[in-house]
Amino acid sequence: MAPTVPARRLAQGWLLAMLALVALLGLVRPALAADPSPRERINIDRDWRFALGDAQDPRKDFDYGTAAFFFSKTGYGDGPASPTFDDRAWRQLNVPHDWALEMPFDPRADSNHGSHAVGPGFPSHDIGWYRKRLDLSEADRGKRISVEFDGVYRDAVVWFNGFYIGEAHSGYTGFRYDLTDYVNYNGPNLLVVRVNVSVNEGWFYEGAGIYRHVWLNKTAPLHIPQWGVTVAADTVSPAAATLTARAKVDNEDSAAHDFTVDQAVLDDDGHQLAASQGATQHLEPGASGEYAAALTVPRPRLWSLESPHMERLVTTIRSAGAVIDRYEQPFGIRTVRWDGATGFWLNGVNIKLKGVNLHQDFGGVGVAVPDALLAYRIERVKAMGGNAVRTAHNPPSPQFLDLADRMGLLVLDENRIMGVTPEVKDQLTALIERDRNHPSVILWSVGNEEWAVESNEMGARLTKLMQDYVRTLDPTRRSTVAMSCCAGWGSSATTDVMGMNYRAQHDVDGFHVKFPDKPVVMTEEGSTFATRGIYVTDKAAVHIAAYDEPQHPTGSSSIEQGWTPVAEKPWLAGLFIWTGQDYRGEPTPFGWPAISSQFGMQDTTGLMKDSGYYLKSWWSAEPMVHILPHWNWPGKEGQPIRVAVYSNAEAVELFLNGKSLGRQTMARNGHLEWQVPYEPGTLIGRGYADGKEVASDTVETTGPAAKIKLEPYRQTLAADGVDATMVKVSVLDAQGRVVPTGDADVSFTLDGPAKLIGVGNGDPGSHEPDQFVDDITSQPLMGWRMIDASAGANPSGATEDQWRNPFQWYPPSERPKPPEAFVLRGGFYQTGPIPPGQSLNLFVPSLNAHQRVFVAGQEVTARLQPSGTGYVVSLDGLNLGLGEVKVMIAVPDQGPAALKTLEQLGGGSNVAFLQRVTPAGVWRRSLFSGYAQIAVQATDAAGVVTVHASSPGLAAGEATLRTQSAPQFSDPP
Ligand code: GAL
Repeated sequence: MAPTVPARRLAQGWLLAMLALVALLGLVRPALAADPSPRERINIDRDWRFALGDAQDPRKDFDYGTAAFFFSKTGYGDGPASPTFDDRAWRQLNVPHDWALEMPFDPRADSNHGSHAVGPGFPSHDIGWYRKRLDLSEADRGKRISVEFDGVYRDAVVWFNGFYIGEAHSGYTGFRYDLTDYVNYNGPNLLVVRVNVSVNEGWFYEGAGIYRHVWLNKTAPLHIPQWGVTVAADTVSPAAATLTARAKVDNEDSAAHDFTVDQAVLDDDGHQLAASQGATQHLEPGASGEYAAALTVPRPRLWSLESPHMERLVTTIRSAGAVIDRYEQPFGIRTVRWDGATGFWLNGVNIKLKGVNLHQDFGGVGVAVPDALLAYRIERVKAMGGNAVRTAHNPPSPQFLDLADRMGLLVLDENRIMGVTPEVKDQLTALIERDRNHPSVILWSVGNEEWAVESNEMGARLTKLMQDYVRTLDPTRRSTVAMSCCAGWGSSATTDVMGMNYRAQHDVDGFHVKFPDKPVVMTEEGSTFATRGIYVTDKAAVHIAAYDEPQHPTGSSSIEQGWTPVAEKPWLAGLFIWTGQDYRGEPTPFGWPAISSQFGMQDTTGLMKDSGYYLKSWWSAEPMVHILPHWNWPGKEGQPIRVAVYSNAEAVELFLNGKSLGRQTMARNGHLEWQVPYEPGTLIGRGYADGKEVASDTVETTGPAAKIKLEPYRQTLAADGVDATMVKVSVLDAQGRVVPTGDADVSFTLDGPAKLIGVGNGDPGSHEPDQFVDDITSQPLMGWRMIDASAGANPSGATEDQWRNPFQWYPPSERPKPPEAFVLRGGFYQTGPIPPGQSLNLFVPSLNAHQRVFVAGQEVTARLQPSGTGYVVSLDGLNLGLGEVKVMIAVPDQGPAALKTLEQLGGGSNVAFLQRVTPAGVWRRSLFSGYAQIAVQATDAAGVVTVHASSPGLAAGEATLRTQSAPQFSDPP
């Protein structure tokens, strides 16, 4: 596969090139290139602190919600929501992050969600806390400062500097909060998010955590709000495109402002294609306005699948000669039309939608998919000849649509929940406002198989209300509902475009006869089951033979039966196969121990299954032949083997060990089959057109596995800490042929500036981990008591009587008067021997310069290491014993000041923390049907990366990549 330029680098390169050209050629008003805009968009994905809390036990949830006046007074956020909370023992990580993937598989967990031990029934895995310090200073005074989350799954509660900011329920809708009025310009600023996955949102794997990017935005008080610019073509001809551009402006200043709004269209070379200068406008404090401009682009270069040209609308606000805001909005010029008789049209060209449904998760990384791997997923769809994706069943990440724009992919963009309540409507608004400038988006979906309403009057009503509302936000596109029923009633009566899930559930032709003017698209088709590289069903192993057959209990079609009528009927706009790639959860027709679906044309890591080749044979123009199954069938000598061939040649001839098994003519959209008595050797399929061989495929009986092979999809990554590539792992026999049944257990290590971030093998029954991350848990020490030790003499400062007499110890809050010296005592439980490799670290505060610390009766003061605002001490090698391990902090002087510090820490559960670190161990994965895939992510350093793979008895494999300097991480447009 050809290496792909990473998306963000493309963008950065594009931006730099554009700015350079703009400056060089002076093609736009000098002010545009020269004036710095106060707007800043800063990625804040790095350096978060993370810990699991607890959905049922507040003590294990760091005492969140238990302090006096929590929630009743503003700024009283407690537990981790308090700025004074000590998170030094928490794990440090970068988002995007998906903690569900790190949880073990468990038969009691929801199999539709992938059987990871999260969600209902796993309260101790359901709360994730994220804390992040923000760098803000006096220089930020006077700006509007907001935080923007692209997506958090789910029920996020956001706190800032101890103040409750808000709650975002949906795991799929981005959200943004203005923090300006809670900023400390001279002190620390702390953003805290409590994520709760106790309740599921969909019926498929959804992940857990801050799994998309996070941004800090800074603007002038007079500014364009988030998603405040829209631009769309009103007319398009070869001579000109007329556009309407609209910009909202908010005045969040305490003064009124006079200003102008200028707009310019730049192409990706930086040339100005059109510009408009606005008249002077006026906004009172707190007021908002919207300003429209008409722009004409001569000889427009249209956005299309083959040439996805993007333009950029630059909106500039000027006041008193200065640039107050500049907002850059990428867009593309193209037309889209839906027609009942002829289907879908892009730029006046009739296009059949060759689409797949995709859920968000991907092998090895769950829902926290790096942008570069989103690009890889799109490439894999295109590798089948696909031209469209339906984002089932939720809004995708913004970066997915940026990539679809740049890579030339059509998108059916789906809302998560059907309804018109204020919250649901807000989600729909966010979807449309965020995504309406993307040329890749060709249709909205406002619902999927809404069984409670799709067939009744309420369904008709909700569909109409939602689609009418969508038109007010985006008059340029139509909407659909993906339905499991109804020819002319329910949702189907009112939807703009009829979305049918599965021919088996609809009278497709009958519908068209009755409603010839209504465009129809198959929003789902297929739902076939197939395990990559498996040709004999083995229910115990949850593997299903990968011959293309209709197997779904609802009696749906094979992929061929689904595609053929779509290809043949011009009025059918196209289809979206369920699904492009396997996803975690929905393991139909199995339950446990299956953990992923098998509907995909590719496995969970993007490796092609046979049905993907069927689609490629009719979706792409590239001449091809693909033979299944593999040809390693020891013990089946002489027995007939079902051989299928996918090809777009006119005829295919099959040869076994040089002997022809006959030539067959290929029916359009069909496939060919032979029954071939097995004998080891070579099976060749030769495809012919006009009597000439145009393509061929060979499967050979291989010897046993001898060597591991590693093949990176891209050889060069940006040294930006986020760029990533998949690396294909396979096993070869002595002659260098992939062993299709290879199942070696392979270990991976890596040298150089990159890291492994995920492994997968596409086996729906594999319970091996996808990630190997250190297990870091932090628990607060509990049961704090103190004694007055002012007169004490023993090592800890207390008298012998005080020491031994439990009645002398009292809770710190109940002390009669601040003692000059005191001893504080808390503890943790050690319930069993410390597992080999686990290390224990104790984090204590700094109460005063002379404090002494004792653990299980042993003084550790000399081993204290400074750590943030306190100290950390390793407990490795100490004899802790079993049961309660007592920790004492003795303060021999200046007790009142030390107690004050203690009080500021919030007392109780915030005094000291025990951190247990269990190292992850070596990355490894068994190969499945000869293959696995690993994901490698660059660090910030440039250099050579070597990935090593080893397995007992096999020659090791090695691959070399390069990371090279790139601009710092910036907003992917
Ligand atoms: C459909 C549904 C999809 C998936 C599929 C499995 O009804 O819309 O989300 O569940 O069935 O066959």
